[in-house]
Amino acid sequence: MHKIGKNVTLVNHPLLQHKLSLMRDKKTRSVIFRALMKEAGMILGVEATKGLKSFEKNIATPLEAMSASFLKQPEPAVVSILRAGNGLLEGLLQIMPHAAVGFLGMSRDHDTLKPIDYYQNLPADMSDRSVIIVDPMLATAGSGIEATRLVKLAGATSITFVCLLAAPEGIKAFNAVHSDVNLVTGSIDRELNEKGYILPGLGDAGDRIYGT
Ligand code: PRP
Ligand code: URA
Repeated sequence: MHKIGKNVTLVNHPLLQHKLSLMRDKKTRSVIFRALMKEAGMILGVEATKGLKSFEKNIATPLEAMSASFLKQPEPAVVSILRAGNGLLEGLLQIMPHAAVGFLGMSRDHDTLKPIDYYQNLPADMSDRSVIIVDPMLATAGSGIEATRLVKLAGATSITFVCLLAAPEGIKAFNAVHSDVNLVTGSIDRELNEKGYILPGLGDAGDRIYGT
């Protein structure tokens, strides 16, 4: 993986890139696409959780006493931007089964490309948690910017945004508003088309996950 600027991390791990290539292929069907998205979520999740805080506690192994490292409480929160975020959420929960989970319902208006908020359900104590927001696509970044605003409004200060694909335009727009948030992505694609789709991209992530 490598850092791009202060707060953007590109995860160019060969396993992730292999899965992403399979997902980009239009012949890949929903059942496989969904499984790959979950696996991608696990790999991106490992990178996104690198900075989680831990504390030391004395335990005894079968052989001797030791000071061992555990994750700080309360558990991190994973916030999924509906619907496509749920594909990555599955992977994050696989590696962090005790995480608190939040949902932000957001759909992009096809004409204006602006996000429309339709649902919000976030865990309590957001100010005490590390928060990981997940959405596979950062295109114009309208949805990601709005979701991050809502998570900050709920009190969160330690935030990482995880996506699988980002457009350069989206990264620029996101950083202009939320430069204090770490952005983890599996790819920075070439550009957006006139309809706000990422090129070369993988199409509509929600439709491909759920076969709609
Ligand atoms: C997609 C995607 C992001 C958003 C990205 O969601 O999952 O949330 O578009 O575009 P943006 O960066 O330009 O905001 P969509 O609105 O299609 O909803 P869905 O997940 O329910 O399909
Ligand atoms: N949302 C998607 O699902 N795909 C894109 O390419 C852009 C926005």
